[in-house]
Amino acid sequence: MQVIAIMNQKGGVGKTTTTLNLAHGLALQGKQVLVLDLDPQGHLGSCFAIDTFNSKGMDSVLINKASFQEVTQNLRENLFVVSAGAKLGELETQVQEEGRIGYRLYHALYSDTHNNDHEHYIKQFDYVLMDCPPASGLLAMNAILACNEFIIPVTGDYLALQGLSRLIKVISHIERTLERHTKKWFVLTRFQKQRKLAQQIRQKMVGYFPEQVLATAIRENVALAESPGFAKSIFEYKPKSNGAKDYQNLVIDFLEQRTITQS
Ligand SMILES: Nc1ncnc2c1ncn2[C@@H]1O[C@H](COP(=O)(O)OP(=O)(O)OP(=O)(O)O)[C@@H](O)[C@H]1O
Ligand SMILES: [Mg+2]
Repeated sequence: MQVIAIMNQKGGVGKTTTTLNLAHGLALQGKQVLVLDLDPQGHLGSCFAIDTFNSKGMDSVLINKASFQEVTQNLRENLFVVSAGAKLGELETQVQEEGRIGYRLYHALYSDTHNNDHEHYIKQFDYVLMDCPPASGLLAMNAILACNEFIIPVTGDYLALQGLSRLIKVISHIERTLERHTKKWFVLTRFQKQRKLAQQIRQKMVGYFPEQVLATAIRENVALAESPGFAKSIFEYKPKSNGAKDYQNLVIDFLEQRTITQS
């Protein structure tokens, strides 16, 4: 099972858009996909028309030790979603005395103490995708400790690169401490090909992270911004749009580990 955190503490870089469309794209390929909304803003749930603030979700799993079976909604063929839930933000303020709060998601996913059928239930999924919040608090820490891969969306501007080196330092520090290694993929999002700056950022990314930048850059495409308003993925909303083409290619990049080898 691949457990993937879609992470970047910078806001508005396309984390939720990538989670939504990659998840549905993988489900359309016949993969069993579970999506977890780890952002108290509840945007991922909204993209699927889930009333996040009136439903149980990741808040119940992480605060009340609810099982995934209790909170998972099957929204499309092969696609299962757990919303954030109204109280997810409270995890950040929970008393630190309880200790090891950073490992809650890890335990919820990998231990069967919640429920005897748990292990069996979780193992049916090929992919668990986690939409992370634009912050580096406890929720992000839970995702870092629970995942075995990262997808890091990056936009084509210089501030994006600055934040990125901080994120990579934090992840690397944790990995060194825990003596583990995870794969990290980068996705260029909101890409404007005609902009020199975007091309330069792409070059720099490939230089810094060889074989880790997924081949397809997701272009700026208005249909991608519109589709959540219709509670649809891009494949349902406008299957012929550039957004659908790009995310379809990204799904294949991801499955086949196709990266940019030269700029
Ligand atoms: N390729 C794209 N083309 C056009 N609009 C996009 C694209 N990707 C994302 N958007 C839009 O940009 C905004 C931010 O995207 P999104 O919500 O996916 O980012 P995010 O990183 O999840 O943000 P946050 O940090 O707030 O969670 C949204 O309105 C989204 O619809
Ligand atoms: Mg988001």
